[in-house]
Amino acid sequence: MTLTEEIKELCREKDAVILAHYYVDSSIQAIADYVGDSFYLAKVAKSVPNKTIVFCGVTFMGESACILNPDKTVLMPSPDAVCPMALMIDKEKIAEMRSTYDDLAVVCYINSMADVKELSDVCVTSSNALKIVRNLPNHNIFFIPDGNLGRYVAEQIPEKNIILNPGFCHVHASITSQAIMNCFKEHPAAKIIAHPECRKDVCDLADYLGSTKELIEYVAEDDAQEYIVCTEKGVLYKMEQVAPEKKFYFVGASQICPNMKKMTLEKVRDCLVNMSPVAVVSEETRLGASVPLDRMLELASQNNVVPEMAL
Ligand code: 13P
Ligand code: SF4
Repeated sequence: MTLTEEIKELCREKDAVILAHYYVDSSIQAIADYVGDSFYLAKVAKSVPNKTIVFCGVTFMGESACILNPDKTVLMPSPDAVCPMALMIDKEKIAEMRSTYDDLAVVCYINSMADVKELSDVCVTSSNALKIVRNLPNHNIFFIPDGNLGRYVAEQIPEKNIILNPGFCHVHASITSQAIMNCFKEHPAAKIIAHPECRKDVCDLADYLGSTKELIEYVAEDDAQEYIVCTEKGVLYKMEQVAPEKKFYFVGASQICPNMKKMTLEKVRDCLVNMSPVAVVSEETRLGASVPLDRMLELASQNNVVPEMAL
């Protein structure tokens, strides 16, 4: 039996479903039941009927699936796959901001740990942050932990006072405007597409900005034939599937997230055999963190201005 067949058989036996982020290795994307961006995966985790979820992504993603599904077992093939940006928030700073502004909303990017979500009013992902922040009744917003996504949201919604936190994704921050311009000189017909976790000078060069899923949809539907892609290189697998005739350029070796790449097929098989490691969140934290996550799912599905939040 091949490793893939073994995994499929184990999934049937254990009533398990495999969820994978676009940044994990293509061998895992190829066998996953659902592949997507952070928002899509959070929605899928909430809706699948299976008893077990194998989450192929970094720890905050498995934690979120666990928070949204207390009755399911969430297996983490590589529990050492931590997103460094998720740790770049000082909890005392949240308390300080709350005491400074009375109408503050703490808006927490889903790339954060459960104990920080617990202290937040609403979660967002890169695909719904603009919609959710724009519709919040609060004027003062503390956007954590990603300073780059926060800056992008602040630029699009100048009517709000968006306070930034100095967190960043090292993968996206390593992409420079100079490297993009060098690549563009070689490929002048290419469009530049970027994730809003990129730095301002990179975002300013982009023809299109979006979450991983939005970037993939863009290259599938757009008329150009070549793209300089400013996000983690794992998206290439899906981009080549949806637009096989197009060309994609990446500007540097550092466009690889070492934590996402910790996932392997062997680890997926082993976690199903052992039904371990599992994502664990204490019941108290789970209850607190489920509020901003559920609020995100609700607000992202609404079309109009949201009612006043109880802060
Ligand atoms: P999205 O998949 O939501 O675009 O997020 C990118 C990311 O950095 C996940 O770690
Ligand atoms: Fe974290 Fe960046 Fe890796 Fe995403 S790509 S998991 S934000 S380090």
